[in-house]
Amino acid sequence: MNREINSVAVLGGGTMGSGIAAVSAAAGCRVLVLDISTEAAERAADAVEEAHRDLVEIGTFDADLAAIGDYDWVCEAIVEDLETKRELLAKVEPLRRDGSVISSNTSGIPLREITAGFDDRFLADVAITHFFNPVQVMKLFELVPGEQTSPEVIEAFARFGADKLGKGVVNAKDTVNFIGNRIGCYLMLSGLHRAKPFLEQGMSQETVDAVLGRPVGLPPTGLYGLIDLIGLDVMDLVGKNLALNLPEADAGGPFAILPTVEKAMLDRGQLGRKAGGGFGRVQRLDDGAKKRQTFDLVTEEWRDAAEPDLAGVPGDLGQVLFEDSPQGQLAWQVFGGTLRYAAGLVPEIADDIVNIDRAIRWGFNWTQGPFELLDTLGPDRVMAKIEAEGGEVPAMLAVLRRAGAKSFYRADGGEYLGIDGDWHPVPPQSG
Ligand code: NAI
Repeated sequence: MNREINSVAVLGGGTMGSGIAAVSAAAGCRVLVLDISTEAAERAADAVEEAHRDLVEIGTFDADLAAIGDYDWVCEAIVEDLETKRELLAKVEPLRRDGSVISSNTSGIPLREITAGFDDRFLADVAITHFFNPVQVMKLFELVPGEQTSPEVIEAFARFGADKLGKGVVNAKDTVNFIGNRIGCYLMLSGLHRAKPFLEQGMSQETVDAVLGRPVGLPPTGLYGLIDLIGLDVMDLVGKNLALNLPEADAGGPFAILPTVEKAMLDRGQLGRKAGGGFGRVQRLDDGAKKRQTFDLVTEEWRDAAEPDLAGVPGDLGQVLFEDSPQGQLAWQVFGGTLRYAAGLVPEIADDIVNIDRAIRWGFNWTQGPFELLDTLGPDRVMAKIEAEGGEVPAMLAVLRRAGAKSFYRADGGEYLGIDGDWHPVPPQSG
């Protein structure tokens, strides 16, 4: 059966749907955008570059759903609500033509929950195609098959993502939040909790952001700056999804719920940039100048932004993790904790370290993925520090130790250490 994707029906023309419509039209595909109202679908069409506008049709779910029968790929990108997604997909399924493929762009709801009870044709043709925001910019494209998804469907999505859209395809598994958000959100949610004692002992939020930025290979937004971009409401939803779907005893469990002060911020709508303020805000003064302010999480009051204190923080990538200073301890607990978490998630969330490193670099813009960074730090040194604290060496580091290896990659990055303890060629990257 020909599974070539040349046309796309996007269900939901919000932030993600409009981005998916724009990149698909730019790749020369015919695009249909459906939404609850014509106005909503029109907004999505506006996101498509002028040159490709004639490839795009719009409509509403109520009036035009049958039109999806004329498209190769039906991509669901509506609100992150399980029942709403299931209801729409149930209506779509009988209208979809044989040979077409269907996907959800959910940020983290397991595919098996979305597809529970659907018929065999649907289960063979469905996957999760998880783009990152903004779709036009972010390279990561996580592809998640369900238990019954046919390999040719996954191949068609992978070819489309890589060759037509130029995305970096990562093979993920049907686990909560997939790869990028599982690890990326662990960093943010655990960071909110683990930074608290440092703040109470006088460290400023500016310093927290600065330490959890360039010194460890993260974007300069750090912790609070990144959450201000994403929005506390989104973090709260992600956390609730984690609380529901994380395996029991997962290290992320205790951090899934926002700390008290952040919960109060959420309740009063202090969500981040989109709400005019979150952990930080910019105030315009009478003379037109701008003043940056920080919401102090200890006093729970706004104050003028302060300079971060990076005194004594080494410039070499990741070396701050081994410092005894408060900054070093913060980096070790928050960022080192995330590296430990990631090292315990193979093979649960991905078959190999390569897919994890790529997902984190392409989806969260880390300079190096977790395993690449462990190589930079020296896995032996990291294990020694974990054990000196009485901690348990996570699974993938234990594999490395048993294999007698000194790093996760060798041969100039051409080979990686598998969960079987053997060396494997790193598959070429797409996009
Ligand atoms: P959005 O809020 O921008 O758009 C949601 C769309 O759903 C809108 O077009 C809206 O009209 C439609 N909608 C609302 N209620 C509906 C209903 N009852 N029935 C049918 N359609 C309805 O949301 P966004 O950000 O585009 O998210 C869409 C999906 O993509 C969600 O599953 C989200 O988790 C996921 N996602 C979001 C990312 C982000 O950073 N915004 C990143 C990756 C995935």
